[in-house]
Amino acid sequence: MQTHISKPAKAVRGEIVVPGDKSISHRSIMFGSIARGVTTVKGFLRGEDNLATLNAFRSMGIVVEDDGEILKIQGKGLRGLTEPSDVIDCGNSGTSMRLMTGLLAGQQFFSVLTGDQYLRKRPMKRVLEPLSRMGAAIYGRAGGDKAPLAIVGTGLTGIAYQSPVSSAQVKSAILLAGLYANGETVVTEPHLSRDHSERILRYFGADIETFSGGTKIRGGRELDGREIIVPGDISSAAFFMVAALIVPGSELLIRGVGVNPTRTGIIDILKAMGGDITLQNCRENSGEPVADILVRSSRLKGIEIGGDLVPRAIDEFPVICVAAAVAEGKTVVRDAKELRVKETDRIKAMAVSLQKAGVNVVETENGMEVTGTEKLQGCTIDSFGDHRIAMSMLIAGLAATGEISVNDTECIATSFPNFTTLLHEVAVQ
Ligand code: S3P
Repeated sequence: MQTHISKPAKAVRGEIVVPGDKSISHRSIMFGSIARGVTTVKGFLRGEDNLATLNAFRSMGIVVEDDGEILKIQGKGLRGLTEPSDVIDCGNSGTSMRLMTGLLAGQQFFSVLTGDQYLRKRPMKRVLEPLSRMGAAIYGRAGGDKAPLAIVGTGLTGIAYQSPVSSAQVKSAILLAGLYANGETVVTEPHLSRDHSERILRYFGADIETFSGGTKIRGGRELDGREIIVPGDISSAAFFMVAALIVPGSELLIRGVGVNPTRTGIIDILKAMGGDITLQNCRENSGEPVADILVRSSRLKGIEIGGDLVPRAIDEFPVICVAAAVAEGKTVVRDAKELRVKETDRIKAMAVSLQKAGVNVVETENGMEVTGTEKLQGCTIDSFGDHRIAMSMLIAGLAATGEISVNDTECIATSFPNFTTLLHEVAVQ
C-alpha cells in the first residue's frame, strides 16, 4: 500500500499546467471511435480511468495510434465497432461504464462491462431504467443495479426522458443510445450537468439541439471525426486553487484550464468565500472555453452552497470542504446527496477525515456543515480508495500545523498521475 505525507507549506508559488480534462478525454475516444474518419486528440489524460476507455475501444476493433503526444483514432462510423472477445474492465471509472452502457445498448453484438470493487457497488439503475424504456436488453446484479452488466445489443426507439438526477453520465448514456435509436430522443434534467457530450456531438455534426433544461438528438446521422484539443481539467486545477488560497503568501498561475460554465461552480464558490481568483487569456478550443487562472492566497469565509451550483462543482466538494475547514465561520452544503454515490460516499469520507484533523463537521443526509478552524491538526487518514479524497487531504496538509499522512494513495493515478510531482514543484516547504 502506498502512503503520501503532506507537510505544512510556507507558500504555494509558480506556474503549472494540469493534465487534460477527464470527461473530455473519455468522450474523445468514444465519439472518435464511432465517427467516420480520423479524430486526433491532443492533451489526452493518461489516467487509469481514461486508459480503461481506450482499451475498451481497442477491444472493439478500433485502431488508436499514440505517438506519446497525440492520439490518432481511426473512427469506423456508427456501425463500425465489433464484438469484444472478453469482458470489458472499466476499472474505477463510472463514466466509462455508464456512457458505454448507453453506446453498447444499440450495437448488434453482446458485451459485458465490469469494474473494480468500488465501481461494482455504484448504482447503475439510473442508466438501465431509461435505456430499458428505449428497448435495451441489459442485465446486472442486484436486479440490474450493479455491475457486471451484460448487454445484448438490439434496436432502440427514441424516448423523452425526464431524469430525476442532474447527471452528465445519465444524460450522455441516453444521448449515445439516441444516436442509434429510431426517431428523436429528448433528455431533461433538474439542473444542467456538464455538457461536454452535447458540445462534442455538435462539433462532430450530430443532429442535436439544446434548449433550456434539456437536449434533443435524432438518431441515424453519421458523425465526422475532427481535431480535439483537450483543455486542462478544472477538477484537477481545483486542488491547486484551494492550495494557493489557504496557504498565506501564495500566488499560482494555472495555464490552459477548461472553463466550461457547467464546470466552473468551483470558481464561483471560492470567489463567494472571498477567494482572489482571476481568469486571464480566455479563448476557445474545439468547442470548449479555456483560460489561465491566477490565484492569490485569501482569507476565506464560510458560505451556503446548494441548488444549481451543486452539479456545476460536483467533483470539487472534497476540496471545497478543505477550504471550508480553514474558513472563518460555517459552510453549509445542501442538495448534494449525489456525493454519497461517487467513488466513495464523499460526505462521510470528508467528515471522517476532517474530524481527524480537528475540524467540526456535521453530516446531513444531503450534505454537511463544516465549521472552520485556525488550527488544522496533523493526522493519518485513509483514502477510502477515492482519488479526490486522497488529494484533498494532501492539500489540507499544506495548511495544517502538523503532517497529514494519507494511506492507500494508488487511486490518485485514476485521474491525476503527476499530482504529487506538481505539488512538490509549487509548495515552498
Ligand atoms: C462525469 C460526470 C459526473 C462526474 C464524473 C464525470 C462525466 O458524474 O462526477 O466524475 O464525465 O460525465 P455524474 O454525471 O453522475 O454526476
